[in-house]
Amino acid sequence: MENIKSYVDENKDRFINELIELLKIPSISADTAYNQDVLNTADAVKESLEKAGCDKVEICETPGYPIVYAEKIIDANLPTVLVYGHYDVQPADPIELWDSPPFEPVIKKTELHPEGAIFARGACDDKGQMYMHVKAFEYMIQNDNLPCNVKFMIEGEEEIGSPSLDWFVKRNQEKLANDVILISDTGMISNEQPSITTGLRGLSYVEVEVTGPNRDLHSGLYGGAVANPINVLNKMIASLHDENNHITIPGFYDKVIELSADERAEMAKAPFSLEAYKNALDINDVYGEKGYTTNERNSIRPTLDVNGIWGGYIGEGAKTVIPSKAFAKISMRLVPDQDPEEITQLFMDHFTKIAPEAVTVKVTPHHGGKAYVTPIDNIGYMAANKAYTESFGVPAIPQRSGGSIPIVALFEQELKSKSILMGFGLDSDAIHSPNEHYGVFNYLKGIETIPLFYKYYTELFKEN
Ligand code: BES
Ligand code: MN
Ligand code: MN
Repeated sequence: MENIKSYVDENKDRFINELIELLKIPSISADTAYNQDVLNTADAVKESLEKAGCDKVEICETPGYPIVYAEKIIDANLPTVLVYGHYDVQPADPIELWDSPPFEPVIKKTELHPEGAIFARGACDDKGQMYMHVKAFEYMIQNDNLPCNVKFMIEGEEEIGSPSLDWFVKRNQEKLANDVILISDTGMISNEQPSITTGLRGLSYVEVEVTGPNRDLHSGLYGGAVANPINVLNKMIASLHDENNHITIPGFYDKVIELSADERAEMAKAPFSLEAYKNALDINDVYGEKGYTTNERNSIRPTLDVNGIWGGYIGEGAKTVIPSKAFAKISMRLVPDQDPEEITQLFMDHFTKIAPEAVTVKVTPHHGGKAYVTPIDNIGYMAANKAYTESFGVPAIPQRSGGSIPIVALFEQELKSKSILMGFGLDSDAIHSPNEHYGVFNYLKGIETIPLFYKYYTELFKEN
């Protein structure tokens, strides 16, 4: 039986080329202009799972984009691993900031990726990480050492908040029955220090519209006498944080679980260089909630951020105008036990209340989801840690992430199983940004580590 290291070594060019083909399809779920490309990507994923050796592969229709489902059931007495990933990607804009076209993948060396990284939208989030599972599965089939049952559920709407997944999961509980869910859609500390993501933040996302006068006005004739919705919106937004960068919405922190001093001390042990962090972002200083470290601010604390703001005249030159309307998109990252719907309601009530009489405010909720924290004393976590220890030579560090995968909380609720987040990306991989990339090392190391998870998980399952 061939070991995984030599299998990866012999097949790495093909593995990279197959991923590059997948990355060429612009599967942008947020933009209907790419509708056919998203569907084509589902087909490509289906085909790859068939080729890798799944017995049953299906394109499952949903009210939105289809979910690719596949399985290989070898023995009902053995455990079942459910692999989740997504084949859709974020929009590529601002496109002019890409050094090479987002859907024409190229391999280039970077400081952190001396062996090269694949530059393309979706390289790391999540096509590259999802495809590692397909190739790891291929290895286990080819070498006849798949130790347990496997199911794949690869969706095409993660980047728009998984609107159909809830529908699908609730209708297919039996089909999706599993012992553990395995996901590679997060990151790790560095290529020398792997980590396992033990927490994800929740999300409440809203759009606000502030309306002043019923039409755009001459800013000389009316300026100073009526509310300018852009001025007002900015004042309202600014008031949402106090001088310590605490969020001022009444009740916002009521359900936040504070970490104990011990837990915070444990967190602080993870390797982190503030200097390197600042250098990587070209900033002179960090900024955030008083009383918390950078790593705490971006993982265990809730936030409120404007993601986009617009209104008025933004064309060439100067136009003197008081606009009728101003808009902003605002996200709040949540932590246990904040409830997204409750937080959205608190935001709406507060934002409406602080608006001056001179304007009207409309708040429209977008998607949301609960935060998730996994314990580390379960066999899924232990198996993952054994796998990393073997492939990287050092144990993994548990680490809570600031990002969100809202359906993970849903999986726990509906399927009653834990998700193990074995992410292989780096923070510097620029997911959602121009020049997204994924290290060739990370891609191949992921393929190498995943079969070890299956092996150790099945062993620990049998012992328990
Ligand atoms: N894969 C990311 C989430 C992620 C990345 C978590 C890195 C931890 C580390 C996922 O595709 C994503 O972008 N999620 C969105 C939320 C979604 C509702 C659009 C996010 O976190 O903004
Ligand atoms: Mn993702
Ligand atoms: Mn994403």
